[in-house]
Amino acid sequence: MNVRHCHNIDDFRRLAKRRLPGPVFDYIDGGADDEVTLKRNTAAFDDCDLVPNVLAGVTDIDMSVTVMGRRIEMPLMLSPTAMQRLFHWEGERAVGRAVEKFGTWFGISTIGTVSIEEIGRTVSTPKLFQLYVHRDPGLNRALVQRCKDAGFDAIALTVDTIVGGNRERDLRTGFTTPPRWTPRSLASFAAHPGWTFDYLLREPFALANVRDFVTDGSSVASGVAEYIDKMFDPAMDWKAAEAIRADWGGPFALKGVMSVADARRAVEIGASTIYVSNHGGRQLDGSRAPFDQLAEIVDAVGDKLEVICDGGIRRGSHVLKALSVGATACSGGRLYLYALAAGGQAGVECALGKLQAEIARGMRLMGVTRIDQLSRDNLRWR
Ligand code: LAC
Repeated sequence: MNVRHCHNIDDFRRLAKRRLPGPVFDYIDGGADDEVTLKRNTAAFDDCDLVPNVLAGVTDIDMSVTVMGRRIEMPLMLSPTAMQRLFHWEGERAVGRAVEKFGTWFGISTIGTVSIEEIGRTVSTPKLFQLYVHRDPGLNRALVQRCKDAGFDAIALTVDTIVGGNRERDLRTGFTTPPRWTPRSLASFAAHPGWTFDYLLREPFALANVRDFVTDGSSVASGVAEYIDKMFDPAMDWKAAEAIRADWGGPFALKGVMSVADARRAVEIGASTIYVSNHGGRQLDGSRAPFDQLAEIVDAVGDKLEVICDGGIRRGSHVLKALSVGATACSGGRLYLYALAAGGQAGVECALGKLQAEIARGMRLMGVTRIDQLSRDNLRWR
């Protein structure tokens, strides 16, 4: 099986599971506690049905939207995710090259594995940096400055990861970066020689954007939750968020807003955008799904800032449902990470191509030629 045999995100997930050592696959695939929120994020879309219109003349369609001041060619963005070089040796480089072909937003994480500078130099599509506020204020200031110098287009401050979620799969597998060589993990790496070869013989793994400040996660093995609890600043508050927005000065998103009250405060501090997100079900299990929560947030603040629906998206029809509710665009992480693990740049291109085709086909079958023709009139809840 290779990426040519993958017809949907679930197929890429299955292929990723074959290609990756168990602990690495479970890090991508897993969620917090009982993974109730993880499952609900996708299941929520099934509680809502599309009601198409017909005979609309749909030869030419335009699925572009504007997000954070940039016109993007499809209404689906790539959420920033951590540690991509662990999933495929080309990591963010492969994703960046793939996403350029689709003209949408690319995001890198504070704990990504390719530097802000390199991404700034090499990726021409709109670029977002996802900021995790560390306890070390010098590191935070340096990251924002580096984004300015590298010509990034936006910063998203992640606000739902103030402590590490309880990811029991990672506890069971003993997942760390860099990987700890234990008898169990060694068996898993030996069973995946392709991955292990790349990991050992290519450029050494490091958290490229924090390595000058922090050895954990780069040269000292650390679990992800352990890293978050030790390094991230739980004192972060609205004042801190506003100060970062002011220091940055460009398009600024809060990623991980779930309540209407917080959405209103995001408007007050001058955020241009919010990601309605529960971090892919990896943080607070039992938290509501972004799609379930979308309508009340759009109704409260949709005319004042952009609302991105982030989480659970596996199909073009999910994107159409979120846009019909009133989201400006959608965003997803696992949907391209499985493809990255399954086949590097070619895998990501293939997955994005499938999703783009699903959105286009879905628009035609819905009888719309532009995204602004989608509305709640096209939806019915069961
Ligand atoms: C995650 C963080 C680190 O693993 O973004 O979800």
